[in-house]
Order: sequence, then structure tokens, then C-alpha cells
Amino acid sequence: MLADGRRVVSFSGAGLSAESGVGTFRDAPDGMWAKYDPVRLASPEGFAADPGLVIDWYAARRRTVGNAQPNPAHVALAGRGDIIHVTQNVDDLLMRAGAAVVIPLHGSIGFDRCNGGCGHIERVDMTDPPGLRDCPNCGAPLRPAVVWFGEAMPSEAWDKADRACRDCDVLLVIGTSAVVYPAAGLIDVAKAAGAEIIIVNTQPSEASPLADIELLGPAGEIVPQLL
Ligand code: OAD
Repeated sequence: MLADGRRVVSFSGAGLSAESGVGTFRDAPDGMWAKYDPVRLASPEGFAADPGLVIDWYAARRRTVGNAQPNPAHVALAGRGDIIHVTQNVDDLLMRAGAAVVIPLHGSIGFDRCNGGCGHIERVDMTDPPGLRDCPNCGAPLRPAVVWFGEAMPSEAWDKADRACRDCDVLLVIGTSAVVYPAAGLIDVAKAAGAEIIIVNTQPSEASPLADIELLGPAGEIVPQLL
């Protein structure tokens, strides 16, 4: 399928970065949302209630991502310059592996943006992340440039991802539980448009019924063999 597919798109989730040491959200017992309350840490309401707590938690995540390295799955994906990479991951590991086209649906943990909506955005030092601070432009608090629960995805990224999934021959779904919508709906979009679906995951997921081929095992081992 991959050899014949003229247009291949990858759609990844936290499992792609698990072997780089970046924790997933829903794997028991170590998944982040088993240990932390997503509404307190990753929603506009949580940030309004206790911005310092949210920023400190993101600082810890930023240090983890900043010290992580792309794993063999990122490297193999990046090595296929013809693949469009749609990812739910806010880390930059696909980019650091050298991937040419990455569409980050849920934003990037490597940037802060103004919570007041003035449009200010700035890169943060991932190995020495900042604490809570104000926008130099308008004085509102700065927040991570990621999509939180209850927020819409950036429309430009969504439109590109939707188009790529509508137009692809093969969708390679890697390391996602496929429970967070609307992102997970892209798998249905590709399937409905006639694409073949290849899933790589350590276990069955919500997307399993859509799979033409499901390969169960760690992405860092399977993806390099596949590509
Ligand atoms: P999840 O934590 O929900 O799912 C991770 C998936 O990766 C699970 O299906 C695991 O079985 C699989 N997995 C774990 N280790 C793996 C490995 N080494 N190789 C292959 N697969 C592995 O993460 P996502 O599906 O990415 O949202 O979660 C979707 C969204 O929910 C995230 O983008 C985030 C979160 O809340 C936002 O930040 C908005």
C-alpha cells in the first residue's frame, strides 16, 4: 500500500513520542490524564483559575520535551519527504527529525502567545522555560500556544489537514487513542474518501474498526520497518 500510494499522510498522537520519553495522556497507569486533571491544567477555565499552576506544569513538560530526542519512528517518517505529517502532538520532535511538512493540529509547546488576544507570540527556551509573565505588548498574561480543551483548532492547520486527509491514498495512523475530536475525525474523513488506513499502535484503539491493516507494537520499531 505504501509503495503504491501516491499521496501518503501520517496522522500521529502521543504514542509516536512515547519512546522519546514524552508521556502519553491516556495510557494507564502513567498517562498524564490519569495523574493530573486536564480541566485544571489544559483549559481556559483552569488557566483563569490558577495561571501559575498551569505555567509551572507546562514548564515541567517543556523541560521534558526540550531534553527529549526524536526516536527512530520520527526519523523514519521525516526521511520520507513525500509524506505530509498531521500531528496532534505539541512537541517539535518530527520537525527536529527533519520532517519537511508538519501540520500541528494542537499548536506548539515551544511558543507562548498572548492570552489577551493581541496576537503577540514568542518562542520559549524549552530547557529553561519561563514562569508566569505578562505580554510585552499589552500586559495580559502569556500562555502556551497550544490548543486546550474547549478551544477550537487553528483554522489554517485544520483546513490543511482536512484537505490532506481527503486527498490521500494511504493514511498512516500512529500512536493515537483516536478519542479526541475533531482531530480523530480525520481518520473517518480519509476512510470515507477511499484511502487505505494503516494503524500502528501498541494496542487496539477507537480507530481499529477503520483499519485495513493494524500493526500492534511500538512505533519506534514498526514505523522504520514499514517505511
Ligand atoms: P493518548 O494518550 O490518548 O493515546 C496514546 C496512544 O498511543 C494510545 O492508543 C497508546 O496505545 C499508544 N501508544 C503508547 N505508546 C506507544 C508506542 N510506543 N508506539 C505506538 N503507540 C503507542 O494520546 P493522543 O491520542 O495523542 O490534546 O491524545 C489526543 C489528544 O488528547 C492530545 O493531542 C492532547 C490530549 O488531551 C491536546 O493537547 C489538545
